[in-house]
Amino acid sequence: MKILGISGSLRKASWNTALLHTAAELLPGHKFVVADIGGLPLVNQDLERDGKFPAAVERFRDQIIEADALLFATPEYNASIPAPLKNAVDWASRPPNVLAGKPAALCGASPGVLGTSRAQYPLRQTLGVLSVQMLGQPEVFIGGAAHKFADGKLTDTVTREFFGKMLETFVAFSARVRLG
Ligand SMILES: Cc1cc2nc3c(=O)[nH]c(=O)nc-3n(C[C@H](O)[C@H](O)[C@H](O)COP(=O)(O)O)c2cc1C
Repeated sequence: MKILGISGSLRKASWNTALLHTAAELLPGHKFVVADIGGLPLVNQDLERDGKFPAAVERFRDQIIEADALLFATPEYNASIPAPLKNAVDWASRPPNVLAGKPAALCGASPGVLGTSRAQYPLRQTLGVLSVQMLGQPEVFIGGAAHKFADGKLTDTVTREFFGKMLETFVAFSARVRLG
């Protein structure tokens, strides 16, 4: 399965991007690519010409089209979806909405106890409206992230095990969605 990871953080040492790299490690039998949303321009309909988008947007949209499944890992910014991630989702939603019908799952890591739930719930609502097929459970809210990551990977044993189980469920769910 081709899985596209989309991180809500542009930070080099991001825990959420680290979660995606950990997912790639935990799913060795699958092709895992992490999208670069940092180069996307801010959404502006004036940049759309005759159904064409700026080159970085076309690349990102193509990555979604080619993916069998999408894994979002996001921080919460001011109790909501980080602007770069909302911007990326908004570009993907422009007609034709390339997100429609794709299986997807969410996860996130934060320093506090909420584990990015306040970003994941509004993101889940937006993606649902865009006809993304969302995995309902298990939900992955990783709190206390400062003690759970090292060298760009999730290292906390119990959390890794839980995340691995969620990924197995996600792959099985995505295969079912792809079969219709
Ligand atoms: C603009 C901004 C707003 C933030 N708001 C929140 C917040 O509402 N809740 C929270 O738990 N952390 C918040 N943080 C802290 C992030 O959780 C922290 O920077 C985390 O490391 C971001 O994830 P990353 O490691 O993937 O970059 C905020 C950070 C930024 C830059």
